[in-house]
Amino acid sequence: MVNIVIFGPPGAGKGTQSQLIIDKYKLMHLSTGDILRGEMASETALGLEAKKLIEKGELVPDDIVIKMVRSKIENNLDKKGFIFDGFPRTTRQAEVLDKLLEENNTSISVMISLEVEEEELVKRLLKRAEEEGRADDSIEVIRNRIKVYNEVTSRVCNYYEKTNRYKPIDGTGTIEEIFGRICNVLDEHI
Ligand code: C5P
Ligand code: MG
Repeated sequence: MVNIVIFGPPGAGKGTQSQLIIDKYKLMHLSTGDILRGEMASETALGLEAKKLIEKGELVPDDIVIKMVRSKIENNLDKKGFIFDGFPRTTRQAEVLDKLLEENNTSISVMISLEVEEEELVKRLLKRAEEEGRADDSIEVIRNRIKVYNEVTSRVCNYYEKTNRYKPIDGTGTIEEIFGRICNVLDEHI
């Protein structure tokens, strides 16, 4: 298996680039945000619990997201590999992900970090709010999501840097330009 993490603040383009990566490299998309939104739409106990946090722009506790990821990995060990999108969001999640993959004799090859300035992120998320109507894309929630990213999630970069897997990429420009930069990195690993 070849597994990668696509990382970055909200609005960096993780979901958009994931779709292009899946098509080209045939990896399986594992987006914890999409799984949580599915649970919310089906009004499961987990979805209702997560909704309260997501609508404030807060993080869902590590144990809950880890459980979701674990079951998704264990049910898809026959696949070519995973692209983790929106996970890990804390250092503990990153540590556990390494352990989970190691238990299955595989690992994360590279973590691609999309770098975009805050004002550009806000602009993109407000545009998405108009197009998709996501409840957590209001200006107050956007600001809190970026704050949580800066205070907690951004530290995940250090974890991957220590093990030489951290690849920062300029996340501005056209979708194709950004994808080209990602492919240059992935072609060294896949
Ligand atoms: O990844 P995405 O931006 O789609 O996630 C949407 C929301 O889901 C986040 O703002 C956060 O509230 C929650 N989430 C989380 N932990 C994750 C993934 C998503 O708390 N690992
Ligand atoms: Mg996303």
